[in-house]
Amino acid sequence: MTEPAKIMVVFGTRPEAIKLFPVVAALAADPRFTPVVCVSAQHRQMLDQVLEIAGIVPDHDLDLMKPDQTLDGLTAALLTELGRVMDAEQPARVIVQGDTATAMAGALAAYYRKIPVDHVEAGLRSYNIYHPWPEEVNRKIIGTIASLHFAPTDVSAKALTDEQVDPARVLVTGNTVIDALHWVTARIEADPSLAAGLADLEARFAGKRIIGVTTHRRENFGGGMENIAEAIRQIAARADVAVIFPVHLNPNVRAVMNSALAGLDNVALIEPLDYPHFARLLSIAEIMLTDSGGVQEEAPALGKPVLVMRETTERPEGVTAGTAKLVGTETANIVTEIFTLLDDNTAYEAMARAHNPFGDGQTARRIVERLGNEIGR
Ligand code: UD1
Ligand code: UDP
Repeated sequence: MTEPAKIMVVFGTRPEAIKLFPVVAALAADPRFTPVVCVSAQHRQMLDQVLEIAGIVPDHDLDLMKPDQTLDGLTAALLTELGRVMDAEQPARVIVQGDTATAMAGALAAYYRKIPVDHVEAGLRSYNIYHPWPEEVNRKIIGTIASLHFAPTDVSAKALTDEQVDPARVLVTGNTVIDALHWVTARIEADPSLAAGLADLEARFAGKRIIGVTTHRRENFGGGMENIAEAIRQIAARADVAVIFPVHLNPNVRAVMNSALAGLDNVALIEPLDYPHFARLLSIAEIMLTDSGGVQEEAPALGKPVLVMRETTERPEGVTAGTAKLVGTETANIVTEIFTLLDDNTAYEAMARAHNPFGDGQTARRIVERLGNEIGR
């Protein structure tokens, strides 16, 4: 009997873990494959929250996170350590997801060993190397190296073929985040206690209109973060509104938000939520205000308008569908756009149409089927 093919799945941050646990599960359930999970732990607590709910025990945990880490220090450590694990494991293929430092270094370390790299969430492009920074360049590097490109949508597939990637190596799969969202929703339905930890806040804010906020982009550090904090302060001046804001653990985010927003009655600055609780926040929020990539994909799937605090997006599908809108990071603009959604029912309804351009929850299955063809089984 042929041995199962060893596939190393490499990730390091919260969103990669959310978007790859469905792939790990699909590989583990398929006798043709043995997944080997290697986490860089570029994130620590926020990664561990996902590993726990998804029931993943990594085969390798590099525990690389340092407080307020720099891009070059992190990338250098990732390249060396991921290479060491690849030498020890000798996988047949390596899977990376998205555009983080871990994904880029994982792809590069595999390439240096001539191990084929398969890219989940391939072909996202903003066409601006500083927005988002450094993710646009990370994903272009991965795209240059990748063997198979799993594009979430036709838009991302076309971006790749426009860059002369062989169309036979590109597969439109949907985004695994929708698989993850379906899975967590079913888990919560089966066991509501998994998402019951927001009950106190929900009671405190009963009757108010909830705005969910997340922010973490490096290009927004400094002035951008201060503008966002000021916008939240002005939005919270309305008595009918409550803001629930799980604050990213990056110290560049926390320092600004804690000093600008502490003590406001209707602003809850809380610790990062585990995935079931974040899914609960998505379901109780009237509007999401975010600079996150993943939230831009999840909120439309739940019919929640998303205001995106960025200059560009590599996820134009939500904007085209009308469920997402770019609002930049100028305070006045963010406040105006939030107030429009709160006060103009027609504008709200136009954005709230439930339309999900990012997939049907079958993405991991498609990826594993294509990998099966690739290894000839
Ligand atoms: C990283 C990714 C970004 C992704 C984001 C998702 C890079 C360069 N950036 O950004 O693409 O969108 O994750 O959230 O790959 N920290 C903790 N605990 C944690 C996580 C972070 O304390 O669990 C703090 C540490 O001080 C750490 C800092 O946050 O040094 C920054 O983490 P890092 O992974 O470098 O950047 P993010 O801004 O989280
Ligand atoms: N998320 C979470 N808890 C939180 C905030 C976000 O579980 O407190 C999830 C969210 O559902 C989404 C992902 O984390 O799937 C987005 O991560 P993040 O915004 O950090 O990164 P990005 O998607 O921008 O790379």
